[in-house]
Amino acid sequence: MEILSTIFSLFLFVLPILASSSQSQVYIVYFGEHKGDKKLHEIEEYHHSYLASVKETEEEARVSMLYSYKHSINGFAATLTPTQASKLSELEEVVSVFPSHPRKHKMHTTRSWEFVGLEEGIKQQLHMHMDKSEALLTRAKYGRNVIVGVLDSGFWPESKSYGDEDMGPIPKSWKGICQEGDAFNSSHCNRKVVGARYYVKGYESYYGPLNRTVDCLSPRDKDGHGTHTSSTVGGRTVPDAAFMGSLAQGTASGGAPLVHLAIYKVCWGIPGKDKVNGNTCFEADMLAAMDDAINDGVHVLSISIGTTTPVKYHEDGISIGALHAVKKGIVVACSAGNYGPQPGTLSNPAPWVITVGASSLDRKFSAPVVLGNGLIVEGETITTYRLDNISYPLVYAGEITIPNVTRELSGQCLPNSLSSEKANGKIVFCFRGNGTRVGKGMEVKRAGGIGYILGNAKGQGEEIVADPHVLPATSVGEHEAMKIYKYIKSTKFPVAKILPAATVVGTSPAPFMASFTSRGPNVVDPTILKPDITAPGLNILAAWSGADSPSKLASDDRIVEWNIYSGTSMSCPHVAAAAALLKAIHPTWSSAAIRSSLMTTAGLENNNGTLITDAMGNPANPFQYGAGHLQPTKAADPGLVYDTSYTDYLTYLCSIGMPGFDSSFKCPKVLPKTNDLNTPSLAISKLNGSLTVTRTVTNVGHPGKTSYFASVKPPMGYRVKISPSILIFKHKGQKKSFKITVEKERDVIQGVSAQEYEFGWLSWFDGVHTVRSPMVVSSA
Ligand SMILES: *[C@@H]1O[C@H](CO)[C@@H](O)[C@H](O)[C@H]1NC(C)=O
Ligand SMILES: *[C@@H]1O[C@H](CO)[C@@H](O)[C@H](O)[C@H]1NC(C)=O
Ligand SMILES: *[C@@H]1O[C@H](CO)[C@@H](O)[C@H](O)[C@H]1NC(C)=O
Ligand SMILES: *[C@@H]1O[C@H](CO)[C@@H](O)[C@H](O)[C@H]1NC(C)=O
Ligand SMILES: *[C@@H]1O[C@H](CO)[C@@H](O)[C@H](O)[C@H]1NC(C)=O
Ligand SMILES: *[C@@H]1O[C@H](CO)[C@@H](O)[C@H](O)[C@H]1NC(C)=O
Ligand SMILES: *[C@@H]1O[C@H](CO)[C@@H](O)[C@H](O)[C@H]1NC(C)=O
Repeated sequence: MEILSTIFSLFLFVLPILASSSQSQVYIVYFGEHKGDKKLHEIEEYHHSYLASVKETEEEARVSMLYSYKHSINGFAATLTPTQASKLSELEEVVSVFPSHPRKHKMHTTRSWEFVGLEEGIKQQLHMHMDKSEALLTRAKYGRNVIVGVLDSGFWPESKSYGDEDMGPIPKSWKGICQEGDAFNSSHCNRKVVGARYYVKGYESYYGPLNRTVDCLSPRDKDGHGTHTSSTVGGRTVPDAAFMGSLAQGTASGGAPLVHLAIYKVCWGIPGKDKVNGNTCFEADMLAAMDDAINDGVHVLSISIGTTTPVKYHEDGISIGALHAVKKGIVVACSAGNYGPQPGTLSNPAPWVITVGASSLDRKFSAPVVLGNGLIVEGETITTYRLDNISYPLVYAGEITIPNVTRELSGQCLPNSLSSEKANGKIVFCFRGNGTRVGKGMEVKRAGGIGYILGNAKGQGEEIVADPHVLPATSVGEHEAMKIYKYIKSTKFPVAKILPAATVVGTSPAPFMASFTSRGPNVVDPTILKPDITAPGLNILAAWSGADSPSKLASDDRIVEWNIYSGTSMSCPHVAAAAALLKAIHPTWSSAAIRSSLMTTAGLENNNGTLITDAMGNPANPFQYGAGHLQPTKAADPGLVYDTSYTDYLTYLCSIGMPGFDSSFKCPKVLPKTNDLNTPSLAISKLNGSLTVTRTVTNVGHPGKTSYFASVKPPMGYRVKISPSILIFKHKGQKKSFKITVEKERDVIQGVSAQEYEFGWLSWFDGVHTVRSPMVVSSA
């Protein structure tokens, strides 16, 4: 598991070898849901007895147990040999046994952050995309009485985002604790941060004892990621958020500034690796945190963590934990991942979580390049270092790389790749690709360059992730990068200026999909459409750890209160905040009702009034944005919801051949189709002829008589029939079912449409509410 901030490095790190068959490692032994017939100590004994049955001695069983999951999740984490794991997996009452480590432990969380004091903070960032959001905040009392749990790298308690002045009392239902540890005691929790815990056993059994000079054995965040995500959900409104006092000032605020936060630290630094390479989070630790969070009484969980490759539900700690959370009405928001633009890359695909993609804001940190031929090339940066207003020699990195660098990597400014002799005193132009963006800047600085221009490579489009580089620098899109490259090639003595950054608000088109955002189809189950929604995740300002530099490079000793960070890690807490506001307004709504409201009211247009595009300017589709872009104000009044119960999910699990998550539930004899699960979206894979699915909507709008009319934009090459096409509700809370039949149009466009997937929409409209669902169909 890894934290999902953006990544553009493809460094592969060598792993401790664990695969040999005699070697022990941590496994999770999962029994499903607790029956509720045992006391906590009985559960522990019961887990112990299973473990003892495969171990030589009682003592060996005792020391090999890491966690006994006792509250909602029934299972344990223990050190086992593959033989012992396989013995346990054969027991009928065991749902699954899976390793605590992701098989592919590819750590490449290069965050590219930046921090600045901007003219607008998160509050304004949200405002731009929340029409009448002030009204929503007021209706939701800013999230008062709602508790949001955040699984991440902890938090930095001294940040102003966690102040508790004028906060309401801690809800009586709250059962969590403030766990003391390194540089952390109970005084660091308050009415804002009502609980804080940490989970390290899975990490330590893999890496050995935590290095406590690098990280704190406590909820304290020495990384910054957890501070950023948790303050994005629920940070207080802080005026005068400024970057090192030198850039513009503004107000920073979480999306739901009066929610209570509960911090679960599950992600830790990787020994011997620079923080720029990210953190790691283990299944065993996350499951323990989720089991506690459910029991502690959180209402919403925000989890910006995922796997590098898609994992089946019964072997995915987040999916398992989230199912138990959803049973208790907890809304779980998860990031989709940063493995775009390739298809089929998303993590957290379970239908019971909200899977969030990332898109841009309408803001830029404009820092143009002026070329010697007078051409002005648009660029973006948040670095605070500046060049004088004169032209400097400009050079392409590919022309000054030392001879041992391979051709395809020249021009990328990888560590120790530039000739100091040739870089000295120049602005160096590098391409993105392998290596981290901030690391390339570090290399230019090492080689004696005085400025750095980072160009998007072919296929990366115009999306710019603004970074806090360690020297004067700017980043340019693919199109602009080609202009610079051509200019350098066209003249003997190329020169350039980099102008200082200025914040520009209201840029268009916005939003567009980030190129890094992970995409569908959902390879775990192609009949469940994922992601569900998109939210801002590009260049997001939020609070930062006082123990990590904004670039996360070890050689960078700057300390900042605020940082700018990009990734689906940043978009997920936006959706968690919106869910918290909805929970405050509609405390009895189920997790699925809240997800449905967010999805069916999401927007499809950018601020130019045209359909949302990708970073290249091509039309985007539901494999990138799900139902569309987050519009929380509309979500508060969705008209209809597609509700889904815990037993619906269990039935769905039966249908995909994964029964047993809850032993008190018996699979129905006749299993419904997987795409009959009552989601506010429809995915049909490998359609042969035609298929009919059922959906049920609940009226949560008008109290009196209301009629909804169906309209369809069918996927190209398919006919779609809705039956009935008018739904008449007599009262609030009433449910109505309807059928969707999708049929392939025979040979209509044979040889014309070679598209594997086609997209369409279904909407219900009552004159006030539009309740829209995406559809995706493949017949190949
Ligand atoms: C908690 O830590 C703070 C400093 O971070 C210290 O001032 C305070 O005395 C500590 N409180 C307790 C109860 O140990
Ligand atoms: C812990 O980290 C520090 C700083 O990186 C390093 O100097 C020290 O050797 C590490 N300790 C252990 C036991 O690895
Ligand atoms: C930079 O120099 C150009 C002329 O070389 C001038 O037009 C421009 O105003 C200068 N900008 C600043 C910020 O001084
Ligand atoms: C190239 O060689 C130098 C030493 O001559 C070394 O420091 C550097 O890491 C090498 N670079 C690559 C990319 O192999
Ligand atoms: C990264 O380097 C590898 C090995 O040289 C190469 O195959 C790959 O295309 C590079 N990736 C990018 C994005 O440049
Ligand atoms: C979006 O609208 C703005 C202002 O109306 C216009 O300048 C810009 O060219 C438009 N962009 C696109 C991509 O259509
Ligand atoms: C498609 O349906 C037809 C008729 O029901 C059947 O004969 C055929 O085998 C099916 N094809 C596939 C690929 O399932």
